[in-house]
Amino acid sequence: MMNKKTALISGVTGQDGSYLSELLLEKEYIVIGLHRRTSTNSFDRISGILQHPNFSLCEFDLCDSSSVYEVVDRYKPDEFYNLAAQSHVATSFKQPSLTFDINTQGVVNVLEAIRKYSPNTKLYQAGTSEMFGRNYSVDDKGLKYQDENTQFLPQSPYGVSKLASYRMLQIYREAYGMFVSNGILFNHESPRRGELFVTQKIALWIKSFLRWCRSNNLSPIELESKDDKLVYNNLIYDKLRLGNLKAERDWGHAKDYVKAMWLMLQQDKSDDYVISSDQTHSIDFFLSLAFNKIGIKDYKKYIYIDPKFCRPAEVDYLCGRSDKARKELGWLPLLSFEDLVAEMLNE
Ligand code: GDD
Repeated sequence: MMNKKTALISGVTGQDGSYLSELLLEKEYIVIGLHRRTSTNSFDRISGILQHPNFSLCEFDLCDSSSVYEVVDRYKPDEFYNLAAQSHVATSFKQPSLTFDINTQGVVNVLEAIRKYSPNTKLYQAGTSEMFGRNYSVDDKGLKYQDENTQFLPQSPYGVSKLASYRMLQIYREAYGMFVSNGILFNHESPRRGELFVTQKIALWIKSFLRWCRSNNLSPIELESKDDKLVYNNLIYDKLRLGNLKAERDWGHAKDYVKAMWLMLQQDKSDDYVISSDQTHSIDFFLSLAFNKIGIKDYKKYIYIDPKFCRPAEVDYLCGRSDKARKELGWLPLLSFEDLVAEMLNE
């Protein structure tokens, strides 16, 4: 009988960590979910697998090298998926040092732990399309895109922190022959998305607004716009406050993207791969589609542009080309952008 594979997943309580755990448990892995102890631990996303016989939780902190060394030495896993991060771009402008501690120093801790205590462990590192920043390539039809050959030009402390760890993996691969792969993942969402990210912020606002309308026997279109409020007689509801609606993002479904992480570690050699839907849409377009689904043709009345949500530096355009992953990994996303929006609104 073949021994079961063991995987460590940092950031297990997050969107990607929860979907990846489910995928690996289906594949009969022993999964150890690494999480940082906080006073308000949230296990909502993994509540369905907490009792699974092949799943367990282990406390650790990416920023504390001794704790990282300890878990790697203890489990000597076949695979380590490093999904823990300070993943919010806007926060990285306010907390650049913390962002570097977690996203860069934390990754060096993992690389060193594997090098010293478990050199056969394969590492997946969560890289990001934010590393491209404002840069893109242009094809012979004049279409703009980003792939593995596009030069990185990050525009945020988050992007720079991720680029530093991306390059560190390449150095450990070349210098020590370690199996370490970077995923360059474009935006990926789901009903499990954190509420600070724009898609989930929109979906949650729409759902709670509809509930409020229903409880007051109102149709959403009856309300009038007054500054940052929606008003009907003495009833008042706060508009959805957003920043830049012109930015374009390549959005996929997180469930599809965790499959690519796993595929990267099943190859003969480690490498770096863009994972994307290869289509781009503006926040504007996301809003039209989402409001259309609830029968509202013009969403503008419901939105208040708040400069607080505009970033000091913005990434205007992301549109991936994932040909390499599709060809070499056999990866194919199954869920469309329309499915994603519908699922986020229905949950
Ligand atoms: N979060 C947020 N909140 N974004 C807003 C808002 C708002 O109120 N209003 C407009 N936006 C715009 C942002 O300026 C950005 O252009 C776009 O919506 C997407 O923002 P996020 O959903 O926060 O995602 P992100 O693109 O900055 O970063 C996400 O994708 C990266 C991959 O490209 C995160 O998941 C990163 O961790 C990930 O690496």
